[in-house]
Amino acid sequence: MSTRKLTNGHSNSNNNNNNDQFKRFKSNNNSSNDFPKNNLPNSGQNANGRSLSIDEQRHQLPVYKVRKQLLNKIASSKTLIVIGETGSGKTTQIPQMIHESIKVNVGIIAVTQPRRVAAITIAKRVALEQKCCIGDTVGYTVRFEDVTSPKTKIKYMTDGSLLREALSDKFLRKYRVIILDEAHERTINTDVLFGIVKEAQRLRMEKGLLPLKIIIMSATMDVDHFSKYFNNCEPIYLAGRTYPVKVLHTAETQSDYLNACLVTLFQIHKTIPVNHDVLIFLTGQDEIENLASQIRCIVKVSNELGGPMIRVFPLYAQLNQNKQLEVFQPSTNNYRKVILSTNIAETSLTIKGIKYVIDSGMVKRKMYDSVTGMDTLKVTRISQDQAWQRTGRAGRESEGFCYRTYTMNEYRMMPAVSVPEILRSNITATVLQLLALGINCRKFDFLDKPSDKDIENAQKQLYELGAITKPNGDELTEVGWNMSKFPLDPRFSKMLLSSIEFGCLDEMLSIVSILSGETIFYQSDDPDKRVEALKAHAKFESIHGDHLTVLNVYNEFKHAERHRTFCHENYLHYRNLEYARDVRRQLSVICERLQLKMSSCGNDYDQVRKCLLTGLYNNVAEMQQDHNFVSVTGRLKTKIHPSSVLNNKANLKFVLFTELVQTSMNFMRIVSSIEPEWIEEVVPNCGLSNRLSIFNQKVNEN
Ligand code: CDP
Ligand code: MG
Repeated sequence: MSTRKLTNGHSNSNNNNNNDQFKRFKSNNNSSNDFPKNNLPNSGQNANGRSLSIDEQRHQLPVYKVRKQLLNKIASSKTLIVIGETGSGKTTQIPQMIHESIKVNVGIIAVTQPRRVAAITIAKRVALEQKCCIGDTVGYTVRFEDVTSPKTKIKYMTDGSLLREALSDKFLRKYRVIILDEAHERTINTDVLFGIVKEAQRLRMEKGLLPLKIIIMSATMDVDHFSKYFNNCEPIYLAGRTYPVKVLHTAETQSDYLNACLVTLFQIHKTIPVNHDVLIFLTGQDEIENLASQIRCIVKVSNELGGPMIRVFPLYAQLNQNKQLEVFQPSTNNYRKVILSTNIAETSLTIKGIKYVIDSGMVKRKMYDSVTGMDTLKVTRISQDQAWQRTGRAGRESEGFCYRTYTMNEYRMMPAVSVPEILRSNITATVLQLLALGINCRKFDFLDKPSDKDIENAQKQLYELGAITKPNGDELTEVGWNMSKFPLDPRFSKMLLSSIEFGCLDEMLSIVSILSGETIFYQSDDPDKRVEALKAHAKFESIHGDHLTVLNVYNEFKHAERHRTFCHENYLHYRNLEYARDVRRQLSVICERLQLKMSSCGNDYDQVRKCLLTGLYNNVAEMQQDHNFVSVTGRLKTKIHPSSVLNNKANLKFVLFTELVQTSMNFMRIVSSIEPEWIEEVVPNCGLSNRLSIFNQKVNEN
């Protein structure tokens, strides 16, 4: 392992610079909006080190100090913007305060979250605080999981779930208050919701219905932009306390940020007290699991030599829920907690005890390239705004340190704020959803409007999928209406609908359900077990690729006598397969409602692969002489991901992939082989066959 010098990149980098950055968001402070400063962090302990009761913990949060003023403001405003540091109690407390103060029986308080993990963990915490069972007064709704009851008054939900509810009631009559949380994340769904709830509020007023109150909450945001959009509504700043964080940059550019994070961790691990926890920001599951194993290996050796203990906690959206919850357990004095997280821990989840942050400066983002027409998951630099949010995680309870594995110059080159997802993603699903709401995307009141080119591309794709009547029209076909009924990416709902034609609805339901959840294959940290797992997984392998492989797993799981034992023996994730089974049940109900006739193609797996092509026709790639692939749409050079059963298989010509992940290279994930002649047979109108004949075009190396 190489060592590396870390320098203090800020000439003046502790309190002032740092606080200046945080203050940036309070620039237009006006004293009437500025609440008194709180001075107690929520550490879960009192001054004598006694553990605080849950009520005491609640009452120590910064937001509690301004409860009265806040409630008055909420009562007197139709729309309100609330800005406060991460951990000040916005998400958990404000909905409870409103609930406890209005005590009316009409209407629910909805709180949206961009991520399902956050919606679930926060709802569970709030249920605990309300001393009720989850699903009682406090519940949550995320895609394919509704844990609410008629008694539910505070409902945490993903932004996508609320958007789907708008499809059946554009007045959103169920809700008295809608809180759009984490607004700065600017996910596509939150962006669309801004317009939808604003319109619902206007419509309710026009019709004399119960008024809808809107609260926009965030740790940081471009207040003027939001305020202007929401009819010049007033922002409120919660002055929560953060302690100074000393920021350190690397002296030189690091070619391998993962290694840089690892080196930094062990440099500080040697010198700091064991009860100081470390949070490392990385980009995604593979990377986190990889680094976690490396740390565990090193720690094993170091423990044998009597060094301090480390316990590693991964945290990412796909992690199973129990594992996610482990991160929130307070650590003991016997070991150091090292949390490896995606940007999920940036603002939406607060973990106590963090004194050190190591920031890789990277994030994985979905990027849409309107030239190639491809959506890719790409590892890119974060924005300066994100860098400061990450830094802030070290200063919640006392002074902290943030080690940035990038140079000061690299920091300066970062964009000030991140581009909203709607301006960098494929918006086909959004355009379809808006059309189902009777809204023409070009006329929709967006906070930031997607470009005409992106709207045009989305319409083109909807036309190719058979969802709209004209290439740039706004009239849905029957297929389009039916597609909008599924809580799925339009390409996946298309596959379910077209499976009728191929006689394989049964198979497609299983495949789509598995693709909707987390990976079903268990990977062990232990090298011996890893070999065992590979052996176990090989039994399910289909020569046709990953889609049929997961189908094989599902079919055997379904027929297994003891599901848990079956999963254990075969190194499969029981919970994820159970989840897929539940999703499948829900998708089957929608299919029944649409009167789709159940069918199975038996062993005729060509039918399944042809059916996959009806949705994923844009994701086709052809093998080149050098055994790499080139995507037919966009001419991108790609490879099959090492996790695919088709990796390194000979005799492949054309493949279809589910997604493209860009790390060192564009990797195709979840891949199946297809025959080129199927393209003309199955999707003759998508222009793919023309593209096949111009294969001597220049390859896009990007
Ligand atoms: O939304 P905001 O970032 O302002 O804060 P919050 O999510 O409401 O969190 C307030 C406090 O509740 C933090 O100190 C968290 O550590 C704590 N909390 C917790 O102990 N367990 C959870 N599952 C969620 C929050
Ligand atoms: Mg929050």
